[in-house]
Amino acid sequence: MSSKPENLTLITDDGLRLDGRRADEIRPMKIEIGVLSRADGSCYLEWGRNKILVGVFGPREAHPRRSQRADSAVIRYRYNMASFSVEDRARPGPSRRSIEISKVSREAFEPVIMAEMFPKTAIDIFVEVLQADAGTRTAAINASSVALADAGIPMKGLITSCAFGKVDGQIVLDLNKEEDNYGEADFPVAMTQDGEITLVQMDGNLTPEEIKKGLELVKKGCKEILAIQQAVLRKKFETPVEEVSEEP
Ligand code: CDP
Repeated sequence: MSSKPENLTLITDDGLRLDGRRADEIRPMKIEIGVLSRADGSCYLEWGRNKILVGVFGPREAHPRRSQRADSAVIRYRYNMASFSVEDRARPGPSRRSIEISKVSREAFEPVIMAEMFPKTAIDIFVEVLQADAGTRTAAINASSVALADAGIPMKGLITSCAFGKVDGQIVLDLNKEEDNYGEADFPVAMTQDGEITLVQMDGNLTPEEIKKGLELVKKGCKEILAIQQAVLRKKFETPVEEVSEEP
């Protein structure tokens, strides 16, 4: 978050944002499933100008062996930004930021992945951010959820993620890059299908009332995202029931 140029208006008097959205609208989202033939599950997701690719591998024997857990699978999540994904080239390799995002994203999935079914194994989630435009951690979580389901990993439900923030003094859903840069706060959230929150982070300052209002917006956003995730999974896995001709 940097200081906003004086003449820049992020929300017009009519309540429209720079990309034409209203405060409670998410960016358009498109999901493709099963895009990588060598992964057990995969997903390509576009959300506004974000482009994210996820490959899921496992459950497979965990290496090195000392990383194995006798009572469950270990879940490993690696968030990586391609060097060409941002305006200023991102330095290849792990950074403080990518290590933090990987950790909180793994924790966002731990309550739903039924890891105890697969002792001594590893479930690997590899995230590649190909193009970034703010909200990449939430986009990556939405894509990972679909890729995990595509891999057939038993889960109690899908995880869905969306951020809200404060821009020009207003609480808005799903910040884009300009809003993230010049806004006053950013608050990413992930939740289960039942609305149980599994990730919360906050950058900037917000009052308790603003957080309450933002969480209501996030719930609405997550509901819309869940519907998109479910539709793409249904399309792949629902086999049409053949009509049974009645006996004469
Ligand atoms: O992407 P997300 O909002 O989850 O994380 P962030 O740390 O708040 O970053 C916001 C945005 O800043 C990213 O989505 C990128 O568009 C941009 N960024 C960048 O240009 N260079 C970086 N090294 C990191 C982030």
